[in-house]
Amino acid sequence: MSRMPNKWAIMAGCAGSMVCTLAVAAALMTATGTDAAPSSAPAASAAREPAGLADAKASDCFACHAIEHKVVGPAYVDVAKRYASRQPAIIDTLAEQVVKGTVGHWGSVPMPAHPNLGIAKARTIVKWILTLKPAAAGETAAATPAKTYSYKLADGKTVALDFPMFITGSNTKVTKDVFTGYEQYNSTCNRCHGDDAVGGAYAAPDLRIAMQGGLTWQQFLTTAMAGRVNKGMPSWAGFYTQQEIRDIYEYVKGRSLDLVPQGTPPSAQN
Ligand code: HEC
Ligand code: HEC
Repeated sequence: MSRMPNKWAIMAGCAGSMVCTLAVAAALMTATGTDAAPSSAPAASAAREPAGLADAKASDCFACHAIEHKVVGPAYVDVAKRYASRQPAIIDTLAEQVVKGTVGHWGSVPMPAHPNLGIAKARTIVKWILTLKPAAAGETAAATPAKTYSYKLADGKTVALDFPMFITGSNTKVTKDVFTGYEQYNSTCNRCHGDDAVGGAYAAPDLRIAMQGGLTWQQFLTTAMAGRVNKGMPSWAGFYTQQEIRDIYEYVKGRSLDLVPQGTPPSAQN
């Protein structure tokens, strides 16, 4: 369809001149050639990623899954390994579980249903997952010692975090991540967990207290992505990325330690 205006533009520009006949003919031939073999254009197909990966990215799969490591759900390479001997029959079973939701095969956290994905796309993604292999041992990131950031609390104690709360050289200006977390928390989570994470309505817990009680990053991410729908906590998979939930976590952590004040925190932006 996109070639039509092109062709007509050439013709219109010609306005009856004989010289143009060749140009029009060439345009038509090019157009026909393109139509005849659209998928064999080498540049386009070389750059294209597997259909299953593209569909997984377009859906919410990467909110909860990574290829190489467990997130909320199992690593895709582990899924591939577990079902390797059961191909191809297992493809339909797994595709159906993606569409209808499932629990109990890897743990007690449920995978929500994906009714709008459609069984055909689910099959495409599952087929791609089943092709995955763990990266060679040498390729996996060499374990670098985790960096820690120490901060002095109001009660005089020192806390070590695995992320920076403040920008370098400041004790009050929060990082961009923490500031983004503040903005996102206060546009969605505040509705139930209270403005500025002070606890709220709908029997939603005060997340500061939950963190003081030991709620870990992994637990925070899992609850945020999978939700506890029957208890009124929505699933945020597909709405927020892992990085965005991480930003919210860092902000709430700052509030739970009283390092970050109520209201708009000081930041590089203000
Ligand atoms: C809210 C988090 C979440 C999202 C979003 C999610 N998954 Fe899962 N997924 C899980 C969990 C948790 C499990 C483990 C369920 C279990 O223990 O049976 C799982 C398991 C699976 C399995 C293995 C099922 C089995 O029976 O062994 C496949 C395959 C899978 N997911 C694919 C997908 C695909 C494809 C998408 C995107 C369309 C997706 N997941 C989106 C959390 C999620
Ligand atoms: C519609 C109301 C509602 C919204 C909006 C909401 N939550 Fe919740 N959330 C709840 C409820 C209710 C619970 C308690 C569920 C239970 O009883 O297990 C909860 C529990 C949690 C927990 C587990 C706390 C614990 O002690 O285990 C986390 C973490 C959490 N929410 C994070 C978030 C984040 C992050 C957002 C924003 C992206 C958010 N919630 C938005 C209602 C909500």
